Amino acid sequence: MTDLVGIDAGGTLIKTVHLKEGEYNYKIFPLNDINEVVTWLKDHHPKSKLKITGGKQSVLAKLVENEVELVPEFEATTNGVRAILERSNLTLPDDYLLVNVGTGTSIHSVHCKSAERLGGTGVGGGMLLGLSYLLTGRTDFSEITQLAAKGERNGIDLKVNDIYEGASPIDGDLTASNFGFIDRIKQQEVKDEDVLACLIGMISESILMMAIPFTKTISTSTIVFIGSTFQSNPLLKQQFERIEELFDINANFPPHGQFSGAVGALLYCSH
Ligand SMILES: Nc1ncnc2c1ncn2[C@@H]1O[C@H](COP(=O)(O)OP(=O)(O)OP(=O)(O)O)[C@@H](O)[C@H]1O
Ligand SMILES: [Mg+2]
Repeated sequence: MTDLVGIDAGGTLIKTVHLKEGEYNYKIFPLNDINEVVTWLKDHHPKSKLKITGGKQSVLAKLVENEVELVPEFEATTNGVRAILERSNLTLPDDYLLVNVGTGTSIHSVHCKSAERLGGTGVGGGMLLGLSYLLTGRTDFSEITQLAAKGERNGIDLKVNDIYEGASPIDGDLTASNFGFIDRIKQQEVKDEDVLACLIGMISESILMMAIPFTKTISTSTIVFIGSTFQSNPLLKQQFERIEELFDINANFPPHGQFSGAVGALLYCSH
């Protein structure tokens, strides 16, 4: 039987999966180090067939000597999520909303045998990296997420309570204006960790405000979140988990969810 490697060459990261003795072996490479993937394939999988998906699939396909099959990204991602869920101990309904927070964010309606892309937004992991750099000069993803987890949003984000004197018509703890507490911002020295916490707050709230109405459109209360932006990013995950109480939605983060595209490519049958 042909040995197969599934690859998702995305806008920021290249994810690979290799099936060996029934176990998935996962690897991640930065897109900037695409030649490392080429070397790794040459050294470890010279004879394997590569099934490649993602926006950079044709770039990688040109660099390798292996037999290659190109797989469409949305089919790969949604099929991969089904396969990853089957291997996890999560038991979910057949129909759910899928939110993939990668470089950009893509939202899909997934059913038992079909799936449809409903929309997307440029607010995602790429924005997190770009604005972190512009606001704090930092570029290392894990440094950014670790700092953000220690940050404090009060006094930068304007909450409903900061506007309303007396009773407010909605929960006073909700954000009224991301980065909107300009009077306070001007009066204090703002720490990087606080700016980064606010940035993650803004990104999560923007994505959720786009995704949640889609749960009504497709009559589901289950959302599956995937994408490498959730990796070692406790604050982002925590923000997304808040929808469980605020909107009565069941939020799921399957283990290895960032490899959905690669797994779906590996398992893809074109006929
Ligand atoms: N080691 C890392 N280096 C850079 N970014 C990382 C790293 N780990 C996690 N990230 C985050 O994950 C995001 C990329 O997520 P993901 O791998 O799901 O997207 P992608 O598949 O490359 O992009 P897309 O699907 O939009 O083409 C980055 O924008 C960043 O926020
Ligand atoms: Mg991707």
